[in-house]
Parts: sequence; C-alpha cells; structure tokens
Amino acid sequence: MLNFEFFTPTKMIFGKDTHKRVGEVIKSYGFHKIMLHYGGGSIQKNGVYEQVTASLKDAGIDYLDFGGAEPNPKLELVEKGAQLCKDHGVELVLAVGGGSAIDSAKEIAVGACYDGSTWDFSTKAKTPRAALPVGVILTLSASGSEMSASAVITNEKLGLKRGYNSEFHRPLFSICNPELTFTVNKFQTGCGIVDISMHTLERYFSKSPDTPLTDAIAESVVRQTIAAGRRAIKNPEDYDARADLMWASSLSHNDLTGCGRETFMACHQIEHELSGKYDFVAHGAGLSVIFPAWAKYVYKHNVPRFVQFANKVWDIPVSQENPEETALAGILATERYFAEIGMPVRLSQLNVGDEAFYEMAEKCTESGGRTLPGWLPLNTKEIVDIFELAK
Ligand code: NZQ
Ligand code: ZN
Repeated sequence: MLNFEFFTPTKMIFGKDTHKRVGEVIKSYGFHKIMLHYGGGSIQKNGVYEQVTASLKDAGIDYLDFGGAEPNPKLELVEKGAQLCKDHGVELVLAVGGGSAIDSAKEIAVGACYDGSTWDFSTKAKTPRAALPVGVILTLSASGSEMSASAVITNEKLGLKRGYNSEFHRPLFSICNPELTFTVNKFQTGCGIVDISMHTLERYFSKSPDTPLTDAIAESVVRQTIAAGRRAIKNPEDYDARADLMWASSLSHNDLTGCGRETFMACHQIEHELSGKYDFVAHGAGLSVIFPAWAKYVYKHNVPRFVQFANKVWDIPVSQENPEETALAGILATERYFAEIGMPVRLSQLNVGDEAFYEMAEKCTESGGRTLPGWLPLNTKEIVDIFELAK
C-alpha cells in the first residue's frame, strides 16, 4: 500500500426533504449573501427552485440568481459569474444541479478571489490561493463533484476541456436528497451509473500493487452501483436505489476508493478530449464507449487484476487454464451491462466518426509532451488505437 493522505471535509446532509433546510444550513455558517447557481432549467421544471428559494427567503438569506450552466460547463459563464460575485460581495456560491452546475460554481468561487482568468488554473499555469466557499444541492448522481476536489471546465474558444484538482474545490456542505433525482431521465441516469463506476474503476485499475481493503471497498461500490443502477433504470422512483446511487456517487470520487493507490484516470483523460471536441457527447456516455475499448487494449498487461475484477464484481468463475478468458469475460460483462442500461458502447452510436482521432490523441498527450501512465503507458499512437477499437 502506498502512503496516502485522505481529506474529505465536506459536510454531507443526506436524505428526504433535506434540501428544504438549505437556508438554515447556510445561516448556521453565518453567511447572508450568496450566489444561487444552477443549470438550464430542470430545477424550475421539477419545483426544486421554488423550494430552495423559499428556504433561503425564510432564513433571510439574500441571493443573487445566476443560472445557465450548460452540460460541459463553459469558461465564459464562469468569468461572468466571478465578476458578479466581486461586484456584489457574495460570500458563498450555492450550486443546485449536477456536475456541470457544481463545477461551474466551483470555478466561479475560485475566480471571485482572483484577478485573472480561471483558465490559468485549468492549464495549471497558476494554483488557486483562495476561493469563496461552495455549497451544493445535488440533483444528479454521477460526477461526484459534490465531494471531489476537482472541477472540469470547457474553454469554447480553444475547444479544450480541462479539469484540475484543488482543495478549495471541496464543497463546504453537500445536501443530497435522492428524491431530487427521480426526474432524471433514463439516459442521464445511465450516464451517471457509468461515471460513478468509472471513478472507482480508474483507481482500481491504476498501476499499483494490490490493496486488499481498498480493493474490497472498490469492488463493493461497483457491485452496488450496478445493482442499484438496474433498479433505478427500471423504476426511477425507487428511493433506495436512487439513494445507493447518490451515496456511491460521493464515495466513488472523494478518494476513498483510491486510498493507498496511485490515481491516474486515463479513460477520463481520453473522454475529456471526446466531449471537449464534440460538445453533444455527455461525459458518462463517452466513458461508456472508451472504457471497454481501453480495457480490451490493456488487459493483457495485467491479467490477474482483470481476473479479480471479473470474479469479485461479476461473479465469473476463474479459469485456471485460461485466465485471459476470465479477464476478457469481465470486460465483456461490463460492456453488456452498459448496453443493457441504454448506454452507447461504440463511437458510431455517439455519431462520432474517425476524422479527429489523431487530433484528439495529440491534444491528450499535449503533442507528445506527456504519456498517460499505467501498466501500458499510452502515447498518441496507443490512444488512436483505442479510438479505433471503439469505432
Ligand atoms: O442543466 P440542468 O437544467 O441542470 O439539466 C441537467 C442537464 O441537462 C439535467 N439534470 C440535472 N439534474 C436533473 C436533471 N434533469 C432532470 N432532473 C434532475 N434532477 O441533466 C443534464 C446533465 O447534467 P450535468 O450536470 O451536465 O451532468 P453530470 O452530473 O453528469 O455532470 C457532468 C459534468 O461533470 C464533469 C463532466 O466532465 C461534465 O462536464 N465531471 C466533474 C467531475 C468533478 N468535478 O469531480 C468528475 C467527473 O469525472 C466529470 O468529469
Ligand atoms: Zn467522471
């Protein structure tokens, strides 16, 4: 087991009706002036906006209404939001939504305490030194942004989507009411199931020696995500299934499932090129295509790990004579499951052709300036091969 630090300071407020307490929660920290940040209108449609603003008013919290975060949230809106926070003396940014609204809020919070563009942070040219606190009301179980240290922003002008980590990105509190996810449609629910699974699997398949306790936690998170996912897809109002997905979303990306392991998210890096280039590609749908192709490409470089995955997650019996067959069976079971919950597993299903494979691979490796580490290090050529496998 490698040395590690585990720091997850976000206060989790979980369960039915909890979002209606947001005003008093914010008041308990002594804040009076906040920015209310959200996406493209789902919270107005399902009544959450009304309930949240009523709670803020009841608690005497003054809020600046600033919506419009798009899926794959954009830098331009972040910069506008940051300026508004400065102009109005905002003390906390409250995100109501999924990963896009939350990441946008995180960047606004950092930008509010910085004189330049937050893209300086996304490119890692600068490191944030301060940020406004961020509160979250989660409406979609997927990104894990409600407990994670990262934010992913798209620079439309450059066609680049970049994420970076900062401890300033850990929300102060996250209010997670599974009932708010009842209105998430089948496609977005599927995207969430894939993304949650992938946050754990990327850590599980990182280049580190076995870590039995962390591995067992990871296998359990993925098994329960698969099971709850099936139930939530079948019955969107199954509270317990939605609750398991919501809790898994947070545990999968707050670093718990990576303790003692290297964390490098190769599939995520490749996927960010995909949804950076093709804005219509949802993050979870991109991962659902990339992971099976990546796994088929690399599994021969660590067959025992893939055998363990097949056996512990999918209950596939281990073949002593032909472990490679077991390893591959686990990958195919994952691919079948993604398809079963309505996710694409080929680029053609995303309407992505092969015209930009090389361009995306070059962006991912910064024109050969970096290699994605792993049992099989990935350079431009290997990433193109993975795209080819995913066609
Ligand atoms: O825009 P609104 O109105 O909010 O609608 C959204 C959006 O259209 C809708 N939605 C959200 N909650 C809903 C709902 N519809 C009905 N009922 C509800 N309760 O769902 C659509 C997708 O929302 P979005 O926030 O984009 O999805 P998700 O949570 O999957 O977030 C994706 C973004 O997170 C980033 C991704 O790259 C992507 O940009 N990620 C962030 C991470 C992090 N910060 O730690 C890690 C992840 O790996 C990921 O990269
Ligand atoms: Zn993700």
